[in-house]
Amino acid sequence: MSHYLLAIDQGTTSSRAIIFDAHGGARASAQQEFAQHFPADGWVEHDPEDLWFSTLAVCRQALSESGLQAADIRAIGITNQRETTLVWDAATGEAIHPAIVWQDRRTADYCAALKAAGHEALINARTGLLIDPYFSAGKLRWILEHVPGARERAERGELRFGTVDSFLLWRLTGGKVHRTDASNAARTLLFNIHTQQWDADLLALFDIPSSLLPEVLDCAAEFGVIEPGILGAALPVLGMAGDQQAALIGQACFSPGMVKSTYGTGCFLIQNTGATPVTSRNRLLTTVAYRLKGEVTYAVEGSIFVAGAAMQWLRDGIKLIKHAEDSEELARQTGEACGVYLVPAFTGLGAPYWDPKARGAIFGLTRDTGIKEIVTAGLQAVCYQTRDLLEAMAQDGAAAPSALRVDGGMVVNNWLMQFLADILGVPVERPQINETTALGAAYLAGLQAGVYRDLDEIAGHWQRQQRYQPNMAETVRAELYAGWLNAVSRVRSEVV
Ligand code: G3P
Repeated sequence: MSHYLLAIDQGTTSSRAIIFDAHGGARASAQQEFAQHFPADGWVEHDPEDLWFSTLAVCRQALSESGLQAADIRAIGITNQRETTLVWDAATGEAIHPAIVWQDRRTADYCAALKAAGHEALINARTGLLIDPYFSAGKLRWILEHVPGARERAERGELRFGTVDSFLLWRLTGGKVHRTDASNAARTLLFNIHTQQWDADLLALFDIPSSLLPEVLDCAAEFGVIEPGILGAALPVLGMAGDQQAALIGQACFSPGMVKSTYGTGCFLIQNTGATPVTSRNRLLTTVAYRLKGEVTYAVEGSIFVAGAAMQWLRDGIKLIKHAEDSEELARQTGEACGVYLVPAFTGLGAPYWDPKARGAIFGLTRDTGIKEIVTAGLQAVCYQTRDLLEAMAQDGAAAPSALRVDGGMVVNNWLMQFLADILGVPVERPQINETTALGAAYLAGLQAGVYRDLDEIAGHWQRQQRYQPNMAETVRAELYAGWLNAVSRVRSEVV
């Protein structure tokens, strides 16, 4: 029997499909970008048909490039941009509103009112999350309030809600299956991570009819079988996880204490905490890392909204560089002590500050500051923000990790990786296979299909490509980081 696994990775800016062999080698891959819509200040939307058709296109392209027949694929795994919210008609599968993307801030006032009314403690205790526009519940409520007739239709059971995983599964199964997995459910603000059930009190608080909600399965499970006409065979979907959790799996961070950090549009650092849901006193999130055979592995997460997006801004926004890769050489010429700090709080600050009203700034400009210093400061900001997260974890009592496993587009930058190791004082490890998110989804599908016996077997596939050893004097490290903390303190809004 064939051991090929098809991973669908529906991300924030592109959809990808990768066909892996059982050793984690990529046999074929395809990627398609789609349009981002910004209909108002702070709003970010995706056209649900773009999500669907780009996913279909990349699956078909990867299949055709692999030279395999659809029937050679043993199983499909789905991973996705998390929190992004869709509501669709159960009869037609048509979305009733564009997808409201995780970055969207339209519910900021609603969230502030919920906080002021004192609901954060309950929400945090049940979901492990904080009140922020980032999560799904406020977005779902917004759709029910603003699309004419939506609430009545929801109450009549005519609509379905889902994050992107559920929406794709619904479409792939021809409208037969409405399911999600525990890692995606854990990002909605409606899911009790302790009981592993949708939480009736939170549904009441957000005024969400329960008929909208998908069934929640383990991350490796029989999610459904896709319509044979879609890819040419009735393939089973056997794995599902939010993209950051999938990256944790792709990085084989299966033991408590292991940490990975993914540098894409944003940066998401996740530490496995094992069977114990650890509550942060420093505004990190408690979340489901994965659920397998009914057993939950929890994680602590720090979410930074702008990492690679800062490089995009330097390239496309203010046009200081032509290509993101140019940043490496510029930083090498500049060196670490450039004296400039760039705080990329373009959409506020995420963890551990959670300050949606903060805005970006550049500090420390002098007469001889040039492009290379500003670009270097943009790279350094990514590392300082990662340090903020590790500091918050340390203050929560976590031991310093023995190494940080990194992935995502930015980690090809060797200068950045060395500075990261230096500023953290922790070794940084880049894996052989950088496609960890898709790989994690494939591993989940492979677990359920019996391609892999267990997580230990999967962990055996992880290989290091490069290790960056910290190599900076403690005094320099402390001084540079103190400069960052000072810069951040100057962009904070009064309302925290
Ligand atoms: O929580 C948001 C995260 O899942 C988005 O990830 O890689 O699509 O930017 P990405």
